[in-house]
Amino acid sequence: MTLGPPSSAFRHRHLLGIEGFSPEEITLLLDTAEGHVEPNRQADKKRSLMRGRTIINLFFENSTRTRTSFELAGKRLGADVINMSVSGSSIKKGETMIDTAMTLNAMHPDVLVVRHHESGAVQLLSEKVDCAVINAGDGSHEHPTQALLDALTIRRRKGRLQGLVVAICGDILHSRVARSNIHLLSIMGARVRVVAPRTLLPAEIERLGVEVFHDMRQGLKDADIVMMLRLQTERMHGSFVPSTREYFHFFGLDYEKLAAAKPDALIMHPGPMNRGVEIDSEVADDIDRSVIRQQVEMGVAVRMACLELLARDLGNGPPLP
Ligand code: CP
Repeated sequence: MTLGPPSSAFRHRHLLGIEGFSPEEITLLLDTAEGHVEPNRQADKKRSLMRGRTIINLFFENSTRTRTSFELAGKRLGADVINMSVSGSSIKKGETMIDTAMTLNAMHPDVLVVRHHESGAVQLLSEKVDCAVINAGDGSHEHPTQALLDALTIRRRKGRLQGLVVAICGDILHSRVARSNIHLLSIMGARVRVVAPRTLLPAEIERLGVEVFHDMRQGLKDADIVMMLRLQTERMHGSFVPSTREYFHFFGLDYEKLAAAKPDALIMHPGPMNRGVEIDSEVADDIDRSVIRQQVEMGVAVRMACLELLARDLGNGPPLP
């Protein structure tokens, strides 16, 4: 198995977001993840890179993919992994997020993997604990490991990120996946477009260096990658689209709209999908074009890489800033 270069190339105590990462750091994370893909397909998947380490998954928001893949990633690296369910915790008795984190911190975990519905909450928590913290998604701010697994999926299929035209379509306003992907793809030299109704775009989105479209056929024209996002209704206060039926008509991905993209354009979706709302079922299941299942597979390899690179510095003196 190929492992990445020494951890001196990855000088972060926590993994809180993609913004501010260098192309070299992203490449190191992707190369390290690549080294985990084939071993993960073997019968014996267990390694000992994190033997003796403790990881706690602390999810204040629901998750299928991220929580399961962090658990698998930690276990495949030989760590002990605890899943904390907020619904069964003392948060339900009124304990705050910070008190909960400091309570867990007192048990000397090495890594806390945290998802929270408030933007910035994971950063705040990271300032209160001694261990490494990984952001598993905070509000509409960032979801760094999703962007990394998307990048690995694209790189494996297209051989590069540089110069690709990537159209990110749908609810950009509420999407942490969109933000992390915009940062990562821009840092790596891709051309990023966002395609959405005006109501689902943040003000001054152009400042992030993206091209803005309000029409799917124009936004998808000659795109290499079509990345669909669901309507994040749990973050919406009020009505942002007239109806899901109308939304699908104008912004849902079907074969007719996809025809504007390159013939070999890949279809991506971070999940969970709402079939018939942002994506047609047949398109989502198209085994030649859709890489949605591969994204899930790459999620385990990427999370192993993140855990491995952060864990390499644990116990080697004071943590890096
Ligand atoms: N893509 C993603 O974050 O999925 P989950 O909410 O299931 O973790």
